[in-house]
Amino acid sequence: MLSSQIPLPDTEWGATEFEARALRTLLGHYPTGVAIVATRTADGRNVGLTINSFASLSLEPPLVLWSLVNHSPNLPAFRDCAYFTISILGCEHQELALRFANPRVENKFRDIPVQETPEGVPSIGGAIATLVCANHQQTHLGDHLLMIGHVKRIASIEGKPLVFHSGMFTVLHDVREI
Ligand SMILES: Cc1cc2nc3c(=O)[nH]c(=O)nc-3n(C[C@H](O)[C@H](O)[C@H](O)COP(=O)(O)O)c2cc1C
Repeated sequence: MLSSQIPLPDTEWGATEFEARALRTLLGHYPTGVAIVATRTADGRNVGLTINSFASLSLEPPLVLWSLVNHSPNLPAFRDCAYFTISILGCEHQELALRFANPRVENKFRDIPVQETPEGVPSIGGAIATLVCANHQQTHLGDHLLMIGHVKRIASIEGKPLVFHSGMFTVLHDVREI
C-alpha cells in the first residue's frame, strides 16, 4: 500500500485547540540538554541565562541556534552583542542551572568559575562543552527572539550532560551492552 493510501484513523486525532500551557507540557516530553548562554554588555557587565532551546543548525557553515523570550531584560544585551558563548552543563551543574534561571539573583557570575574567551566574553568554567559564537543573525518569531550563532571556537572536557525532561533535571543512565 502506498503511504498516501494509509487510512486516517476514524477516531478523533488529537486536539486542534489547546492552551500554551498544554503545549509546553507536551513539549516537555522531548528531553534536552541544559546550557548557559552568556555575553558581555558594552559597559562591561556579564549577563547570562539558562537555556534548553539550544540546537545545532548547520555544519558548513557551522551554525547553532537558541531562542530568548521577548520580555527578557537581557534581550538588548544579546541582540546587540558581537559574540556570545554557550556552555553545555554537566550533570553536577544543577545549582548553576537554577542560579542562571533565577531573575532575582543580582550577579549570577559571583563566586563561580568564569572563563574569559579571547573574544572577551564570559563562559562557564567546568562546562562539558563550550561554543564561542559570533552573533550571526536574529529573527523575532512569536514570543521569542531566535538567535543564530556562527561557531568560531569550540572546547570540551569529559563529563555526563545535565538533562531537562518534563520540567525536571535528570541524568542519563548507561545502557548495558548486549
Ligand atoms: C531548564 C531551563 C531552560 C530554559 N530555557 C530557556 C530558553 O531557551 N530561553 C529563554 O528565554 N529562557 C529559558 N529559560 C528561562 C530563563 O533561564 C529564566 O527566565 C531566566 O530568569 C532568564 O534570566 P534573566 O531574567 O536574567 O534574563 C529556561 C529555564 C530553565 C530552568
